[in-house]
Amino acid sequence: MSNLPVVVMDNGTGYSKLGFSGNNEPSFVFPTAIATHESPSASGSSNSKPSFLSNNLASKRGMEDLNFVIGDEAVAQAKTMALNYPIRHGQINNWDHMERFWEQSIFKYLRCEPEDHHFLLTEPPHNPPENREMTAEIMFESFNVKGLYIAVQAVLALAASWTSNKVSEQTLTGTVVDSGDGVTHVIPVADGYVIGSSIKSIPIAGRDITSFVQQLLRERGETNIPPEDSLRVAEAIKEDFSYVCPDIVKEFKKYDQEPDKHFKKYDGLHTVTGRNYSVDVGFERFLAPEIFFNPEIASSDFLTPLPEVVDTVVQTSPIDVRRGLYKNIVLSGGSTMFKGFDKRLQRDIKRVVDQRIRISEEISGGAMKATPMEVNVISHKKQRHAVWFGGSLLASTGEFQGYCHTKAEYDEYGPSICRHNRVFGSVLG
Ligand SMILES: Nc1ncnc2c1ncn2[C@@H]1O[C@H](COP(=O)(O)OP(=O)(O)OP(=O)(O)O)[C@@H](O)[C@H]1O
Ligand SMILES: [Mg+2]
Repeated sequence: MSNLPVVVMDNGTGYSKLGFSGNNEPSFVFPTAIATHESPSASGSSNSKPSFLSNNLASKRGMEDLNFVIGDEAVAQAKTMALNYPIRHGQINNWDHMERFWEQSIFKYLRCEPEDHHFLLTEPPHNPPENREMTAEIMFESFNVKGLYIAVQAVLALAASWTSNKVSEQTLTGTVVDSGDGVTHVIPVADGYVIGSSIKSIPIAGRDITSFVQQLLRERGETNIPPEDSLRVAEAIKEDFSYVCPDIVKEFKKYDQEPDKHFKKYDGLHTVTGRNYSVDVGFERFLAPEIFFNPEIASSDFLTPLPEVVDTVVQTSPIDVRRGLYKNIVLSGGSTMFKGFDKRLQRDIKRVVDQRIRISEEISGGAMKATPMEVNVISHKKQRHAVWFGGSLLASTGEFQGYCHTKAEYDEYGPSICRHNRVFGSVLG
C-alpha cells in the first residue's frame, strides 16, 4: 500500500481537470488541446495503437517534449503549430495525441513519477470496452503506473453532490445531468449502477451556447469585437453575464422597463493591437442558456427541451427506482453553472410530472388518487468540477487501492482485465 495521493484526471471534450486525491479542487484545469509541429493531416485521428508505444518512453520524452505543447499554451500557438483536440464528444479519438497529452500532464504539470502513484481516470457513458483497454495499455506500458481505476463520470458526479446540504443521505441513486463543453448527458444511476439503456444525450452544450451568443452579437452588429477574438468574447460574456430566467416574455419587459439595471458592458482588450474596446451585453444574457429549455430558438435539428428529456429518462427506467431518480437530480459540469438553472429545471420537470399525474387521475374518473412525486434538482458548490471532485473523494477512501487494477495483474492477464472496473458503490458502501 502506498501513502502517496492518487492522481485524478478527468479529461473532457473541452477541458481537462488534473490533480491529487483528497484535494477540494483540481490543481490544473486547461483545454484538452495539443499543438504539434506536424501537419494536421499527418496526425489525423487514429484508432489504431500508435507505433511508438513500443518505444522506450524516457528516450522519447527528451526529444518530443520540444515538439509539442498542451493546454492553454497549445491554444496560444494555434497560428504557428497544428492544434488538435484529442477528445470528441467525451471520447478519446486520437490515441497518439492523447498519450502525449497525458505525458505532459504527468511530467510537466503534475510533476510526479507515475510508477509511484495509483491513477483514477474517468469515462463518459457508453465508452466502448476497447477504449478502456487502450487507456490501460498506455497507462501501464508507457507510464508504468502502479494501479488504475477507470470510473464512470456520472457515478462520481453523484458522490460529489453529497457535499450539498440539500442531500440528506449518501445515496448512489439519482439522475445526473452532466453538461460540459461538447455534450449534455442525462444518466440514471441506481445503487451505483448506470442504467445504460435509459441514458439520453442532447447535442446542446457549452460550445453551442457560446456560438449562439456569438451569432446574437453578430446579428446585432456589435462591430467593436475584433473577428479573431469573437469566440473568446462570446464565451466570456456567456460565463460572466448569462443566467436562466423563469419566463422570457417577462424578462424582455424587464429590460424595456429598467434598461440601466439589465444591460451590461463587456470590456475587452484587443489581443493583437492592445487597444481597449467595449461591447454592449443585452438579451443574450438570458437567451443563451434558454436553448436548454426552448431549443427551437437556436436550432431546427434538436427540439426537445431538457426537462422533457430528463422526464423521459426516468420514465424509461425500472419502475421501482423512478421515485429515487426524480428525488435526486444532480447537476454536474461547466454548462450547469448558469444562475437559476437549477430552479428552472426543477420547476419545468415538476410541471411535466404533475401534468402526467393529473391526466391519469382524470382518465380514472377520480377513482385513482396518485401520491405526489417529489422532484429535486440538486445544485452544490463543487458542481463545476463535480466529476473530478467525486474522483478525489473516492480515491481518498482507504478501500480505493484495493479496487484498482495493478501493474502485476496487468502483466499477468493483459489489458482485457481493464474492460471491467468494480462498482464504486461497493467501495463506499
Ligand atoms: N460560470 C459558467 N457559466 C456558464 N458556462 C460555464 C461557466 N463556467 C464554465 N462554463 C462552460 O462549461 C464548459 C466546460 O465544462 P466542462 O469542463 O464540464 O466540460 P468538459 O468536461 O470539457 O466537456 P464534456 O463533459 O462535454 O466532455 C465550457 O463550455 C465553458 O464555457
Ligand atoms: Mg466532462
